[in-house]
Amino acid sequence: ATSPARLLRGRIVSFLRRPHGADDDGALVHHADGGLLIENGLITAMGPFAEVAAAAPAATPVTDHRPHLLMAGFIDPHLHFPQAQVIASWADQLLDWLNDHTFPAEQKFADLAHGQRIATAFYDALIAHGTTTAVAYCSSHPNSVRAYFGEAEARGMRMLGGKTMMDRNAPPALCDTAQSAYDDSKALMAEWHGRGRALYVITPRFAITSTPAQLEVAGALLAEHPDCHLQTHINENHNEITYTLDLYPGHADYLAVYQRYGLLGRKTLLGHCIHMNDRELGVMREAGSVAVFCPTSNLFLGSGLFDKARLEGHGVRTAIATDIGGGTSYSLLRTLDEGYKVLQLQRQRLHPYETFYWATRGNAESLSLEDRIGTLDAGTEADIIVLNPAATPEMALRHETARSLADELFILQTLGDDRAVVETYVAGVGMKGGGNIPIIF
Ligand code: GUN
Ligand code: ZN
Repeated sequence: ATSPARLLRGRIVSFLRRPHGADDDGALVHHADGGLLIENGLITAMGPFAEVAAAAPAATPVTDHRPHLLMAGFIDPHLHFPQAQVIASWADQLLDWLNDHTFPAEQKFADLAHGQRIATAFYDALIAHGTTTAVAYCSSHPNSVRAYFGEAEARGMRMLGGKTMMDRNAPPALCDTAQSAYDDSKALMAEWHGRGRALYVITPRFAITSTPAQLEVAGALLAEHPDCHLQTHINENHNEITYTLDLYPGHADYLAVYQRYGLLGRKTLLGHCIHMNDRELGVMREAGSVAVFCPTSNLFLGSGLFDKARLEGHGVRTAIATDIGGGTSYSLLRTLDEGYKVLQLQRQRLHPYETFYWATRGNAESLSLEDRIGTLDAGTEADIIVLNPAATPEMALRHETARSLADELFILQTLGDDRAVVETYVAGVGMKGGGNIPIIF
């Protein structure tokens, strides 16, 4: 599809690579008066506004977002679409929370109309919070995947997700079988993977809710479709780990179970990774699999503290995510703030360049999608957010004393939420309605 060119003007921040420590200015591009040329859903030029405008087609409309920041849309690499009504449920830790709140809510997604109603609200929330790509668990029902990708397609969003595979230790209304999980996953993959911007993710929930036969099927799906991602959970909670090792006797540790069934590769996303032993970290490094940190969830469910320095010291790739509905906010800004605090408790103090890199380019790299999303580089998809570091009165008051870009980013992270997201562009189209009216020169 072709659409008319447009120019965005604002303060551009985009990461070139992972920043190393404080004030590593070489890790990012910062144009105080920057321009982005958007054509057919892609960014086709990024640079100083005067240069980009001079090279743009004649009469290209300009949307002037100054003095706000233009940044790549946030990427949320772990959350649960059918838990939009589970968020904020008063519960004990993981296994009770699953049984008392999560499994009942997910059963409703057998109904396509229910899934579609929740999908509308779910995507509204993502857009409001500046999240332009997410990787979600749907429920075990194929209808939930149709609702999830159908709404993403209507909005033109690059979304990843899949049917949760689970065939034991859950209510019958949520359980599939090894065979039906294989058949349904295959059919959904054929229907959705690579259709528009959708990417299918093979999704065994975790070892507790899959029989050995079903984990074998998950491994077979990954072997047959190495272009698909795979997502699951690991080492989140001590009771979960004990139960897993009871169900899978004879394995050295939790990761050995996933290893045995061939679930580990560079496109494997492992949620939580809190209680990992050194052997597991070595295996993860070898496989290139990604540890996904979910700070608001880990605190809410009392799961524990993700040890970023230890994991990265072992060469393990990491990402940061909300984990809605164990997580408590759709906002990557709130998530970075809580992640910062989890790491502060362990004397690991992240610089704001590192946190904003993580939520954009870093998460894109963890999905092996940095050539398409996560930056404002020419040739990538035009998923762009507009951030106002003085969005609320208390932010504006603090912003009066900001002295650097790093200061402004840290204010956004510490005090910001959806109110700081002025506009969210998906494939070049403003979806939040915060953009100024384009000016035609
Ligand atoms: N482990 C298995 N399922 C889930 C889930 O839905 N949320 C979280 N946080 N952990 C899980
Ligand atoms: Zn999760």
